[in-house]
Amino acid sequence: MFLRKIELKNFRNYDNLELKFNKNINIFIGDNAQGKTNILESIYVLAVTKSHRTSKDLFLLKENSLFTKIIGEVEDDTKKQYEVLINKEGKRVSINNNPLKKVSDYLSKINAIMFCPDDLEIIKGSPLNRRSFFNVEISVFNNDYVRYLSDYNKLLKTRNEYLKENDKFNKEYFDILTDKLIDLNIKIYLERKKFVEKINKYIVDIYKNISGKDNIKVYYDSFIDDDKEENLKRQLQDKFDRLINNELFNKITLLGIHKDDFSIYIDNVKINNYGSQGQHRLAILCLKLAEIEIYRKEYNKKPILLLDDIFSELDKNKKENIINYIENDLQVFITSTDLDNIDKKIVENADIFIVKKGNVTRGD
Ligand SMILES: Nc1ncnc2c1ncn2[C@@H]1O[C@H](COP(=O)(O)OP(=O)(O)OP(=O)(O)O)[C@@H](O)[C@H]1O
Ligand SMILES: [Mg+2]
Repeated sequence: MFLRKIELKNFRNYDNLELKFNKNINIFIGDNAQGKTNILESIYVLAVTKSHRTSKDLFLLKENSLFTKIIGEVEDDTKKQYEVLINKEGKRVSINNNPLKKVSDYLSKINAIMFCPDDLEIIKGSPLNRRSFFNVEISVFNNDYVRYLSDYNKLLKTRNEYLKENDKFNKEYFDILTDKLIDLNIKIYLERKKFVEKINKYIVDIYKNISGKDNIKVYYDSFIDDDKEENLKRQLQDKFDRLINNELFNKITLLGIHKDDFSIYIDNVKINNYGSQGQHRLAILCLKLAEIEIYRKEYNKKPILLLDDIFSELDKNKKENIINYIENDLQVFITSTDLDNIDKKIVENADIFIVKKGNVTRGD
C-alpha cells in the first residue's frame, strides 16, 4: 500500500498544500517548527482519523479557519481517494467522494504506523496513555473492536447516570444494563488479549535481532481473570454481583475494561516504572516493529511507516534494524532537521522535501 498524493487545506500551518510522493522513501528536511511533523501527522490523521499528538481535533485546524481537509490518493490493488474533513460540528470521512455514515467503516483501510519521540509516553505515561494507544492500534486491524468500544462507552455512561438516580432505582433494568456491559467487557477483553498474543508472537525475535537477548513480553493487565471463554460470563456476573452495594454507594461503575492496563517486561522486570530511557526506547521500537510483522504476516499488508525525528536519537544498531525492516518494500516518510542523521543508503533512494514556514519545495 502506498500514498501517492496528499492534499491539505487549512491543516496546522498549511493553507493549501499538494504533494506527490515516492513509492518508497520520502524525507522531509527543515529547521525546528517549520511543519515537518505536521505533514506526518496529516498522513496519520488520514489513516486513523485522529492525531497521534492531540485528542483535540480542532487543534488541527489552521488558526482562524473554519475547517480542515485532508485528501489522500492511496494505491493498493486499486487506486482510491480518501478524505477526512474536520470542523466545529465534528468529522466527516469519505472514500472516492462517498461520505460514510460511520467512522468505523473508514478505519483499517489505510495502514500506517507512526514512530515518534512522544511514543515514550506509551511506556512511561499513565494507563490512559497505554489504553488509548492499544485501542487505536487494535482498531486499525479490527472494525468490530471500534464498534464494541463505542457501544461500551455509551453503555457505561448510561449505567453511571442510572447509578446516580438513586430515587427510582429499578433492579431489573439495572441488571439488563449490567448484563449488556458484561458482554461488551468480554468482547473487548478477548480482542485485546488476541492482539497482545500476536504482538508477543513477533516481539521476541525482533528484540533478539536488536539486542541479542530474548526476554521480552507484553502483558495485558485486565480486571478479568484468565479463564476459558465459556467461563468468563459467570466470572464477571460474580464480580459485579459482589460489587453492587459498593457501586450504589459510590454512584459509579467500579469495574471494567476502561480501567485495564498494559505493561512490558524485559528480563522479567516491568519496565514501565523501572526501566531506563534506553530500555523504554528499545521496547517501543520492538513493539512497533512487531506491529509491522502482524500487518505483513497475518494480514498480508504493507503498512506505511511514519518516522518522525527518530534517527537523531537511535544508535547505529537500532537504525540499521529499522532499515532492515523497511527492506525497500514499504513506503516510508522520514523527518529530520539534518540529512546527516540519516543513513546514506536511505538518502540515495529517497525523494527529499525541504520544509520552510509551511512551504514545501523539492530538494535534489
Ligand atoms: N493549528 C495551527 N495553526 C497554525 N499553525 C500551527 C497550528 N498548529 C501548529 N502550528 C505551527 O506549526 C509549527 C510546528 O510544526 P511542526 O510541529 O510540524 O514542526 P517541525 O518542523 O516538526 O519542528 P521540529 O523539528 O521542532 O519537530 C509551529 O510553527 C506551530 O506554530
Ligand atoms: Mg517535529
